[in-house]
Amino acid sequence: MKITGSTKIAGIFGDPIGHTLSPLMQNAAFESAGLDIVFVPFHVRSDERGALKKAVEAIRALNMVGVNVTIPHKEKVIRHLDWVDEDAALMGAVNTIVNRDGRLMGYNTDGAGYLESLALDTGLFPKGKRAFIVGAGGAARSIAYALLKNGASSVIIANRTLERAVGLAGELSERLDSERIGAVALSDAAALSTHISDADLVVNTTSLGMMGKGEVEVPLASFKSSAVVSDIVYRPLETAFLKKASLAGLRCHTGLGMLVHQGAIAFELWTGAKAPVDVMREAAMRGLGL
Ligand code: ATR
Repeated sequence: MKITGSTKIAGIFGDPIGHTLSPLMQNAAFESAGLDIVFVPFHVRSDERGALKKAVEAIRALNMVGVNVTIPHKEKVIRHLDWVDEDAALMGAVNTIVNRDGRLMGYNTDGAGYLESLALDTGLFPKGKRAFIVGAGGAARSIAYALLKNGASSVIIANRTLERAVGLAGELSERLDSERIGAVALSDAAALSTHISDADLVVNTTSLGMMGKGEVEVPLASFKSSAVVSDIVYRPLETAFLKKASLAGLRCHTGLGMLVHQGAIAFELWTGAKAPVDVMREAAMRGLGL
């Protein structure tokens, strides 16, 4: 990488930030596309008052290309932007900021990135499909939104804390004016089994399955043989949940695709150029030691 007087900066704001694979992916992409941009991680502390606002102002002041925004800033960043894309506004979260001549524009590429990789890896498109989502946090929100927006016939949100699932389901059904969304408790074995036996897609959006965390416990025997099983965890790439699903002969989708494709869409928003998706995937895999 050669930094010159005309090099521009892009980056990612998060707390913590040390684990991010985005610098590896985006720098490989900028280099491959011959763009004079470097991508840097920025630790924007959530316990420091005003830090996020100042960091966002710096995008303009330093004439940066734009940034990714990750946990825990995706929701709070919205109030500091000049404009927010309709999908991101309805999701209530921004993960990509583009600096267009000093106007800071917010987008969310998580949901679209997820669907893009799901289609590429498994051939599944959401239209008319029933989805079952484990978890009710930020990742569940973007995936549920994208599925509903793209014609899923139903989305059931199953969460350890039922109130959170009910809250997310209520919010999305109001915002999307849809009755295609429901909520259940992860501990409600009977309801789980019924909903899962209907599902075309089962997605884990929680951190269960990461090293040192527990496993996703859902009754695999209830799955349709045509169901796709998806996990957004990518450390490890094949979680215990996916391993069991794969042994049961089900189509599986790992978390690598969402990571790569949300980044690819962000790259395209910043540069207007087509993202070198394969280069980005290889960089992410190297970062994961694969
Ligand atoms: P993110 O923005 O990454 O989705 P989050 O908002 O903290 O993160 O959400 C984490 C999700 O993982 C939640 O659905 C959480 O369940 P609760 O709402 O009950 O907390 C879920 N989760 C985390 N650890 C879990 C565990 N050990 N068992 C079941 N669910 C878990």
